[in-house]
Amino acid sequence: MRGDVAIRCHGLGKQYRLGPRQRSAIGFGRPTAQGATLWALRDVSFEVSAGEIVGIIGANGAGKSTLLKILSRITAPTEGQAEIHGRVGSLLEVGTGFHPELTGRENVYLNGAILGMRKAEIEAKFDEIVAFAEVERFVDAPVKHYSSGMYVRLAFAVAAHLDPEIMLIDEVLAVGDARFQRKCVGKIGDSVRTGRTVFFVSHNMVAVQNLCTRVIWLDGGRIVDDGDRRVIARYAANTLTSRHQRSWPDVATAPGGDAVRVTRASVRPAAGSGHEITTSTDLLLEFEYWNLGSGAHLNLSLHVYDEQGVLAFNTAPVNEAEWHGRAFPQGRFLSACRVPGDLLNEGVYRIELLVVKDQATVLFRDDGILVFEVRDAGQGRGAWYGRVPGVVRPNLEWRTTCLERSEAPAGAGR
Ligand SMILES: Nc1ncnc2c1ncn2[C@@H]1O[C@H](COP(=O)(O)OP(=O)(O)OP(=O)(O)O)[C@@H](O)[C@H]1O
Ligand SMILES: [Mg+2]
Repeated sequence: MRGDVAIRCHGLGKQYRLGPRQRSAIGFGRPTAQGATLWALRDVSFEVSAGEIVGIIGANGAGKSTLLKILSRITAPTEGQAEIHGRVGSLLEVGTGFHPELTGRENVYLNGAILGMRKAEIEAKFDEIVAFAEVERFVDAPVKHYSSGMYVRLAFAVAAHLDPEIMLIDEVLAVGDARFQRKCVGKIGDSVRTGRTVFFVSHNMVAVQNLCTRVIWLDGGRIVDDGDRRVIARYAANTLTSRHQRSWPDVATAPGGDAVRVTRASVRPAAGSGHEITTSTDLLLEFEYWNLGSGAHLNLSLHVYDEQGVLAFNTAPVNEAEWHGRAFPQGRFLSACRVPGDLLNEGVYRIELLVVKDQATVLFRDDGILVFEVRDAGQGRGAWYGRVPGVVRPNLEWRTTCLERSEAPAGAGR
């Protein structure tokens, strides 16, 4: 019931052992010492009442997914306790909870059963689930043949329709197209109105702002802030200062996966040693990464968003001379992109990085790998002191010519 305690965590901690899991065949720089450990979550305590919509935010590796995995009993905490009161439906990384060899239909029934539903209850919801997921034509095919979009749509539909009292949702909105994302946000909004408790992990601050009534900010496995939506602004202000230069020197734990690991990202003025970025500054965006599979055609793709989430532009190294269109051997690469001055307006910009293989498969995606602020250069704006409107602020060439110097023809201007 609304108001009752739905989740109570006390001193939750999760320690991972890094050494044995590491792959060493790829020639990583500095191997992690055997037996090295990492606290993915530490000293986490909070209480959530039924009906609360909690957004979990924080940088990559902050411990968000680890928290949700503990709450959904996929993994056990190393220390502390997590008490859950209510039927849990979880939608974690793409794939968890689904059996690849089973068909879409079989997976719906399996998940319903795991949630403790009776066959008749599932049957009653079945058509609605399949329709929501838009997988009618494929419902009797094994889900291993689904595209990642179909997979996530079905997983989301199952989690949202099988009436869990507590929904745990990890980053589903990153997958699927914009239309389906809006549909998911709408559906989560419905759950909210029916009094369900929702845990929502996302890097999409607009979605967190719109959906959540409470926000918990994790960093380095610990709770940094826990409060109302204003936590988002404090998090944004904090990441702003720390997202110009980022590096993940340990390849084994750097963001990415089996195919690629991103070890550094930075944005800085292309010339000089200063950090100040103004509307007239030429910028250099740099990304260092390990290609771990040989022979892939890799492409970076950057999406540059303004603070309202409007896409200012997208760029990819299609004109790049050395490596574009060539197979990448295993090894460490640096891709740099120059963004000319007099392009971006003043404001805060967020860069989404995608590493794409063979122009088709997204190997890695981070929707906020870099965040930076462009300040007003204070020049070339005439007598106007307000913010110049628009996402871009090009310094365009203008020309005015006096075509005729004379008094206006009779009748004009009267
Ligand atoms: N199975 C595992 N074995 C070893 N380390 C792990 C394991 N799972 C997670 N980690 C590590 O624990 C830390 C927290 O990871 P977690 O996946 O919870 O972060 P996250 O906040 O969800 O990040 P992201 O925003 O990238 O999804 C990271 O340093 C990660 O590398
Ligand atoms: Mg995660």
